[in-house]
Amino acid sequence: MAGNWKMYKTPAETTAFFEKFRPLVEKSTHCEIVICPPFTNIAAAVAAAKGSTIQIGGQNIAWAREGAFTGEISGAMLTAVGASHAIVGHSERRQYFGETDETVLKRTVAALDAGLTPIVCVGERLEERESGGTEAVLVSQFTKGIAGLTGQQFAKIVIAYEPVWAIGTGKTATPEIAADAHRVIREQVKAKFGKEAADAVRILYGGSVKPDNVKSLMAQPEIDGSLVGGASLDAGSFASIVNF
Ligand code: PGA
Repeated sequence: MAGNWKMYKTPAETTAFFEKFRPLVEKSTHCEIVICPPFTNIAAAVAAAKGSTIQIGGQNIAWAREGAFTGEISGAMLTAVGASHAIVGHSERRQYFGETDETVLKRTVAALDAGLTPIVCVGERLEERESGGTEAVLVSQFTKGIAGLTGQQFAKIVIAYEPVWAIGTGKTATPEIAADAHRVIREQVKAKFGKEAADAVRILYGGSVKPDNVKSLMAQPEIDGSLVGGASLDAGSFASIVNF
């Protein structure tokens, strides 16, 4: 269960969140819990999560180790402050910051090289779904991005299916729609990396996951977890999602 805080919260607000959140998930050993705050809050989050099983991630990662890349943060920088994960290829990065399947692949490899677990996002836009193009988009994002990994690299990633029309809109994909998309992705994984890899890979669903819809989504065997935006900002609501 991963929380994507996007561009919300200060370090002080991060610490306050963990004070409330930690006791609520103390006994939650059924899943891994990851929180991805803005870069400026990662150190505070790592300090506040110390001694718990909660893991911390970045929301993006540079493809280079270091260099003249103004505004970027490298994998080594993330691990140095105690992060273990990095979201890669979020639709907001694709939409507003020019992220492409090619750069998503480069960033994914950089995360793996740094020893971080990449949470690689894919998903179709509304017009693509409405024109019947969902499957083609997912296949294309997979083929141009994730399929460029080696089998060994692939075994270490987490995939997040996030239909763009469901992000921050309150419109969740029905459990069936989400499961269908997960199936398409898993079939791609099977064709490229084999059955074992397809069975083992964790595919998270993201897009308006809330305490009151998480249970029906998680009831789908295809859905292995969720990537939660808005509802992860409140300790009580994210804890309810974790403890669905
Ligand atoms: P949302 O965002 O839960 O606010 O819809 C999900 C995401 O973008 O990861």
